[in-house]
Amino acid sequence: MAKHTIVVIPGDGIGPEVIGAARRVMEAAGLSVDWVELPAGATAIEQGFENVLPARTLAAITAHKVAIKGPVTTPVGKGFTSVNVQLRKKLNLYAAVRPVRSLPGVKTLYDNVNMIIIRENTEGLYSGIENEVIPGVVTSLKVATELACTRIARFAFRYATKQHRKKITVFHKANIMKMTDGLFLNCARRIYEDEYPNIEYEETIIDAGCMKIVQDPTRIDVLLMENLYGDVVSDLCAGLVGGLGVVPGSNIGDEAAVFEAVHGSAPDIAGKGVANPLACIMSGVMMLRHIHEDAIAQRIEKAYDEVLAEGKNLTRDLGGNAGTNQFTDAVIARLK
Ligand code: NAI
Repeated sequence: MAKHTIVVIPGDGIGPEVIGAARRVMEAAGLSVDWVELPAGATAIEQGFENVLPARTLAAITAHKVAIKGPVTTPVGKGFTSVNVQLRKKLNLYAAVRPVRSLPGVKTLYDNVNMIIIRENTEGLYSGIENEVIPGVVTSLKVATELACTRIARFAFRYATKQHRKKITVFHKANIMKMTDGLFLNCARRIYEDEYPNIEYEETIIDAGCMKIVQDPTRIDVLLMENLYGDVVSDLCAGLVGGLGVVPGSNIGDEAAVFEAVHGSAPDIAGKGVANPLACIMSGVMMLRHIHEDAIAQRIEKAYDEVLAEGKNLTRDLGGNAGTNQFTDAVIARLK
């Protein structure tokens, strides 16, 4: 019997290509695993499941506690609620963790970015409570609860401490949204003062904060934000280190964790074999650390760092010509 049972959700668009690559790399690096493959997204409907987030997929994640997931397509302005939003709410995956670091051989404006973005994953404007007041007037409700704000603040300080980080910066707009962002700030400040006074703490209004990130991302260590801000700022920060193809992510709750790249299903390149699988492989590495397979995680990390530094097998988004499989094979060849 394999040591781990992990749910794998290939997803839509480039999902199956990048998830396939991550699986191959983890297996080649020695992970003893039984994959439980289940669908979500448009693929689930195509396969005859009852909806985009089948009960069987949810039940498997609940049972096995860990999943790696490819991106899924969400219709814009109409149609079903995002699978990701549903998944995070139903499994209470309240913390999104997205490390953003400069990579060897990937040329960008900065070469020493090393930050962690922590995003509240269950409420804010992503609560999806929208309503038409009268024709031509619609509203969207921004929800903040003391429970969720305190929970994510405590998670962020605990995570920062475990990762030996020195400073937490909270991005907010409490000058305008005095109650919702005000509550988020108050909760973060309280956790800092009462529980983690040894970590440096700062509060920055998000618009100025974004400008500062672009001017000098090295001043950021750990960033803590509510849902929508975290979604937007993660992509901004991905741009600092080489784009969406190189930034991993995880959605963590007390009972389960789902690992997935920051990028979407990239319909423009789906099925062409050119997607960069690195973000998904890196999400796999985060997952391996979560399940205490640190040695395998380190082996994979070293292998892709070497492939990037060598520069011969880079995918198109990083300025090379390698396809998804060529890059993946190069990483596997470097595993020691
Ligand atoms: P996207 O991230 O799919 O694509 C944005 C751009 O980045 C495209 O030009 C794409 O080709 C490129 N790109 C993304 N990942 C790449 C990779 N691994 N390698 C090379 N290039 C890559 O964002 P977009 O176009 O806004 O969204 C497409 C769909 O994905 C939408 O339906 C959206 O809702 C969904 N989405 C799903 C997510 C998830 O399931 N976690 C996250 C973000 C978006």
